Amino acid sequence: MLKGKRILLVISGGIAAYKSLELIRRLRERGASVRCAMTKAAEQFVTPLSVSSLSGEKVSTDIFSLTDEAEMGHIELSRDADLVVVAPATANILARMAQGLADDMATTLLLATDKPILVAPAMNVRMWLHPATQRNVEQLKQDGVAFVGPNDGEMACGEYGPGRMAEPLEIVAAIEAQFGKPLPKHLMLVQPPPAQSLKGRKVIVTSGPTHEPIDPVRYIANRSSGKQGHAIAAALAARGAEVILVTGPVSLPDPPGVKTIHVEAARDMFSACFLNLPADAAIFAAAVADWRVAVEASQKLKKTSDTPPTLRLAENPDILRAIATTDAKRRPTLVVGFAAETENVVAYAKKKLASKGCDWIVANHVGEGSDTFGGDSNRVHLVRQDGVEDWPRMSKAEVAAQLADRIAAFFSESAPVVKLTKPKISKGRS
Ligand code: C5P
Repeated sequence: MLKGKRILLVISGGIAAYKSLELIRRLRERGASVRCAMTKAAEQFVTPLSVSSLSGEKVSTDIFSLTDEAEMGHIELSRDADLVVVAPATANILARMAQGLADDMATTLLLATDKPILVAPAMNVRMWLHPATQRNVEQLKQDGVAFVGPNDGEMACGEYGPGRMAEPLEIVAAIEAQFGKPLPKHLMLVQPPPAQSLKGRKVIVTSGPTHEPIDPVRYIANRSSGKQGHAIAAALAARGAEVILVTGPVSLPDPPGVKTIHVEAARDMFSACFLNLPADAAIFAAAVADWRVAVEASQKLKKTSDTPPTLRLAENPDILRAIATTDAKRRPTLVVGFAAETENVVAYAKKKLASKGCDWIVANHVGEGSDTFGGDSNRVHLVRQDGVEDWPRMSKAEVAAQLADRIAAFFSESAPVVKLTKPKISKGRS
């Protein structure tokens, strides 16, 4: 999991610095490369020579070193990593980070980086429990900095309590857990806009729930928020695609730069999608109701008798299947469906790929505690004819960005050829 990852390890001046030497070894054993920066105080506990020997890389200590800057400037160094880890993090470096100070190499790297930061505090128990340190920790957490430890235990100074640095393997586990997590907000703001890789492509996206009317005031709905579908529409538009978003009722604003068509029921969504063909791709992220009430009452149903009314249901058109299996002239080159499952997520998605006749299925977990419905994160598998990609839990915006990148890659590979073959459809509905 850490193979090929680049870690920038900032070592500050605490007795726990000796454990950072082991941390470097454990990270390198797992295939990560480790570049280190040390504070002046850290050099009192471990030498730059031992850190450099173990990491196999130059150690950065001096912000004013002309030779270091000439080799790799501190801004570049702070961005070259995938993750910045501060271990041990003393009360002093936490305070300087919380203040946004940049008065040595270590803190300058921490302020300049555009990568997530994980800190492993290590200090005397009184220093850790001091309100000033706790304030700084709170501030850093709000700034999106992740923490591992400190653990309870006996300190080098003989006192007992929280303040011991987490063990190297605990830090390794915390580092692994960082990958795939959404970036802190302030880092997202400075990400460069994605290239216009979908310019000239037209994509239809469905999103949100549908409302199936019972009578003029009542309807059948579901818990879909539309967050994932809207994020996909926005990500495709950000890559230059002409996006038609057909959305059921949601409380989200229309994504900028996207033509948004508002519909209520599945049948309206169906017509809006077909009316907007042809398209290069169609992404069906909406949670379309499988059934509608067969006969919608024209007046509000009244409580006239003791027996409640019986709602007879009729099947809604399956928009995904209909578009995926429409004639080759109208069928978008790439048709992507979604599958929300509580168990056997990938196996069901593979079946659905065949039964719906689509090219890809984005399968997501909607089981208990999954936070998918209405939440801001999602854990998905991208199921294609040629294999399955398991993505870690990410923000819905990140899932959308990844999917938009895969779609752009699909078109860049298949650009010169117009795909006119329909995939084989297996019988039956999953
Ligand atoms: O059959 P199921 O509802 O599980 O399929 C989910 C996928 O099919 C989603 O991509 C959803 O948007 C799409 N769908 C559709 N029309 C329906 C039902 C589902 O487009 N009537």
